[in-house]
Amino acid sequence: MKNLSVDAVGMEYQVPRGASVEALKDVSFDLEGGRLLTLLGPSGCGKTTLLNILAGFLAPTSGSVSLGGAPITGPGQDRGMVFQQGALFEWLNVEKNIAFGPSMNRADKAATKAKVEDLLNTVGLAGFGDKQIYELSGGMQQRVALARCLANDPDVILMDEPLGALDALTREKMQALVLKLWQETGKTIVLVTHSVEEALYLGDRLFVMAPRPGRIERDYELPFAKIGLDVDARELKASPEFIEKREEILSLIWDMEEQIMGHEGN
Ligand SMILES: Nc1ncnc2c1ncn2[C@@H]1O[C@H](COP(=O)(O)OP(=O)(O)O)[C@@H](O)[C@H]1O
Ligand SMILES: [Mg+2]
Repeated sequence: MKNLSVDAVGMEYQVPRGASVEALKDVSFDLEGGRLLTLLGPSGCGKTTLLNILAGFLAPTSGSVSLGGAPITGPGQDRGMVFQQGALFEWLNVEKNIAFGPSMNRADKAATKAKVEDLLNTVGLAGFGDKQIYELSGGMQQRVALARCLANDPDVILMDEPLGALDALTREKMQALVLKLWQETGKTIVLVTHSVEEALYLGDRLFVMAPRPGRIERDYELPFAKIGLDVDARELKASPEFIEKREEILSLIWDMEEQIMGHEGN
């Protein structure tokens, strides 16, 4: 199991005709392989930037990141990304979307077909292989995106608000699917979300991030994701322990927003 290591990472964007933006400053953490980390924080605190650095899409302006001891210097098949929406290939059907990675790698056709069938089952889309992307609901499209990512068998799955565009009910179902996939695959997951409830429910570790400069404000170890594998989601989210943590984090974020607003008012 490969550990993810982030060491004193900083990211400064150069902005035309303005001061540079410190999207991340001195971010350091180690994440053991197989954990589910959620990133929560107000817009602009560097969540997407951090994911892009882990994916290797962006090089940090200071510090370094590594996976299993190997420096991350660019995109690689050991890391897969799931975006909020719209990242599927509209001109390919469901099956071909999922088979995309293995096909690019010239994987054996029969083996790929079997793998796709298996993944369709895993994400609850058995029988949908020959559907076109536009025929699917938003939730189903995100199931395809998850399956496509899993088809490359990455060590780490990076998700940038993957459920953000879904209606409440679909979102709950998808949260359960994320937990199921986490359990069944044992993969490391880093998931960005705007929802306190989602961050608490899915994260067995949770970072609350703060902006200006983007940084990790709090690092929580949480029990709910593991409990959620066996207990009904609604029941868990209504438990006193869950509500207590939710209120704690809400007030932390509330204070943060107040400070930001204060800054802007002055
Ligand atoms: N390509 C870019 N050029 C300049 N500034 C950027 C760029 N990408 C992000 N930023 C800025 O960096 C900060 C962090 O952005 P981002 O990582 O997208 O935050 P989040 O995902 O938490 O909303 C924001 O202030 C944003 O405006
Ligand atoms: Mg973002």
